[in-house]
Amino acid sequence: MSKFVITGGKELEGKIDISGAKNAVLPIIAASLLTLDKVVLEDAPDLLDVQVMGQVIESLGGKVKRKNKKLYLEIKDVENIEAPYDLINKMRASICIMGPLLARVGRVRISHPGGCAIGSRPINWHIKGLEQLGAQVRMDHGFLDITASRLYGARIYLDFPSVGATENIMMAAAAAEGTTVLENAAQEPEIVDLANFINEMGGKIRGAGTNIIYIEGVKEFHGTSHTIIPDRIEAGTYILMAAACGGEVLIRNVIPVHLASLLAKLDEAGVVYREDGDGIRVIGKGNYHAVDIKTQVHPGFSTDLQAPMLAMLTRAQGTSMVTETVFENRFMHVDELKRMGADIRIEGRSAIVHGVEELHPATVNASDLRAGAGLVLAALTANGTSEVREIHHIERGYENLDAKLRGIGADIFRED
Ligand code: UD1
Repeated sequence: MSKFVITGGKELEGKIDISGAKNAVLPIIAASLLTLDKVVLEDAPDLLDVQVMGQVIESLGGKVKRKNKKLYLEIKDVENIEAPYDLINKMRASICIMGPLLARVGRVRISHPGGCAIGSRPINWHIKGLEQLGAQVRMDHGFLDITASRLYGARIYLDFPSVGATENIMMAAAAAEGTTVLENAAQEPEIVDLANFINEMGGKIRGAGTNIIYIEGVKEFHGTSHTIIPDRIEAGTYILMAAACGGEVLIRNVIPVHLASLLAKLDEAGVVYREDGDGIRVIGKGNYHAVDIKTQVHPGFSTDLQAPMLAMLTRAQGTSMVTETVFENRFMHVDELKRMGADIRIEGRSAIVHGVEELHPATVNASDLRAGAGLVLAALTANGTSEVREIHHIERGYENLDAKLRGIGADIFRED
């Protein structure tokens, strides 16, 4: 198992470039199932999750090639309608092939993704939405077997603005007969990127980025070349690392409006930063005021930034309350942070964080992607050498994290 060995306590200095967004590229790769033509995705991050999604596409009969930051996809014939269990099991996001595969060939078999570290993560709203578009869904030996001879536009109200359900429904509805009105839809920037991509292929989607999306079904989609938006979670993580470590870092390739809720909380905490060209310059001083955080759907505070934010707050002056409302089990980093000297108490869905002077180095385990990023942040601020283990979780979502951090002066090395 690989680990990061991090000697903390160093100020960070320099420039860091943000990669394309993992959560945008994954559904966009799935949406390329809608067309028989070639698709080129620019700024596609080279991450484990993206490789897994590529393998899913190949298992269905598609061709996937990478050249530097570009991903080339072509799915002339769908030879298979069943995604292998191992791949679905590796990455829950691969369920986003349901909508487009159903639209393209009228059938999809997929193993139920089951639970995962950060909560039970059911897919009932994906299924309900596809049923409302005319699909029949049955469970067969742990597999979901979904068929639809035709899909019809419908009025669909989501009980909760689920990102994945919005994406799956949008992709299926894009090829349905008639217009779908998707109410209480997720408004994340990645939804807008997906809608833009589908529209570039000939789709007719309006309203993405608001809570009502209108999807007029079309019969045919053509190939396109699309640039993936920058990863707001990666950007937010490095902004927090720069703030927590001190020094001056320019984080480039950022869309600041995607980070509005984080930036508002940084203002409250006393972090100094400013917009600079296509980036955000953070002038870190390491020590801040406690703030309260409540994770919410976009444009609220992102659950994906909760762990790094909480890690920064462990050394803030005063008491912060961090409340997680999106996933039920997303405080797995807390026990590890406590082993580094943090003073945190969990009460239901909240973590009460009493700021301490400093964290101590320790050997800690990354339980999931964002928890792992929080632990790396903590290790960067602790004087001495820490080890962050189980880093395959971190590498699912952060491209070249160690090299990028070394580029701004961090002492971090990857060991196998
Ligand atoms: C996506 C992101 C993930 C982010 C999350 C919330 C990707 C690949 N992943 O995950 O990084 O943390 O959005 O911003 O884009 N739920 C149900 N039934 C459903 C669907 C969801 O109960 O059918 C629940 C989930 O268990 C969770 C909540 O709704 O508690 C939010 O989930 P959702 O918005 O669907 O997140 P994902 O699409 O899985």
